[in-house]
Amino acid sequence: MSERTFHILLLPGDGVGPEVTAEARALLEALAPAAGVRFTFTEGLIGGAAIDAYGTPLRDEELAAALASDAVFLGAVGGPAWDHLRGEARPEAGLLRLRQALGLFANLRPVRVFDALVDASPLKPEVARGADLLVVRELTGGLYFGRPSERRDSAAGRAAIDTLPYSEQEIERIVDLAFRLARQRRGKVTSVDKANVLATSQLWREIATEVGQRYPDVTLEHLLVDATAMRLIARPRDFDVLVTENLFGDVLSDEAGVLAGSLGMLPSASLHGGPPTRPGTTAPMFGLYEPVHGSAPDIAGRGLANPLGAILSASLMLRFSLGLGDVADAIDAAVGDALAAGYRTADLGGVPAATTAEMGAQVRERALARLGARR
Ligand code: IPM
Ligand code: MG
Repeated sequence: MSERTFHILLLPGDGVGPEVTAEARALLEALAPAAGVRFTFTEGLIGGAAIDAYGTPLRDEELAAALASDAVFLGAVGGPAWDHLRGEARPEAGLLRLRQALGLFANLRPVRVFDALVDASPLKPEVARGADLLVVRELTGGLYFGRPSERRDSAAGRAAIDTLPYSEQEIERIVDLAFRLARQRRGKVTSVDKANVLATSQLWREIATEVGQRYPDVTLEHLLVDATAMRLIARPRDFDVLVTENLFGDVLSDEAGVLAGSLGMLPSASLHGGPPTRPGTTAPMFGLYEPVHGSAPDIAGRGLANPLGAILSASLMLRFSLGLGDVADAIDAAVGDALAAGYRTADLGGVPAATTAEMGAQVRERALARLGARR
């Protein structure tokens, strides 16, 4: 049988992005022979790195390369060097353009408290232990893309406006995906909104209820976003799948990162959820994969960053876009093994802290052993 080859567009981006994506890439390259596949990587620039090189946070060339790939793997964007820029000129605009141009409406952010990290969480161990939830964030609508979005200074003073639009179709497809994912998990969906105030949230709740009727085997609850913020910390084990709009999902997923001991632990998948984009590809879903953490400019270039968010993102890529679930299982287990063996980066309170490269190597070695034993 000929080896399957997967083409990955690698966009390391800014800050710690290059360091953590390097560990994810090294892991994929190390596992390829045992997995019986080949990975080819094309590197491109995004965010501040692209602004410095080309004067724009995302060129059409990178967008075209993304469309020609089986999956896109990204580090992080942004940093103080570009903080004076506004709107479309900012590094973040490159990421937003990429998400929108690729139609990546579904952002999956699994949050799992590894047993070995229960003590790294600021929550009481009995609260954090065993928490395992999935934030499903709508990614291409709402306040992030609504127009107008602009400054409106006038003689009366400075002012600005953003717009929060949502259509029936946009809500339906993300909520439906949340229900399908809940079926593969513990069968519960929490739909998060602000229906006591916002018109878009009232529509969201109406549609979530309708979609829920198609899934009688899945429990649906509606929860206001402020109450959700509180319950995430008070009783995180209440949650299975949370589905919510773009900005609420951004905020709640960072909050959920605290449960896991560090935002550095969290991976994400941004899926377009339709049919494969490349003829002949075996990819079930096209997607972009990135750690949830940002560019962390304060620790960039010092080998301090936690690569596990990126490594777990690589696992999501294998699972959702490349159809290699058993390789993904080996990686997830290896992360648990490395943590259980006591390896901790600085964000997890490691004393002495493991460096980015040491953590990457520990996971690589264990994932290889796991995969070898399984195949
Ligand atoms: C995230 C980030 C981005 C977002 C920024 C960098 C635009 O915070 O992926 O959560 O808000 O979506
Ligand atoms: Mg965020």
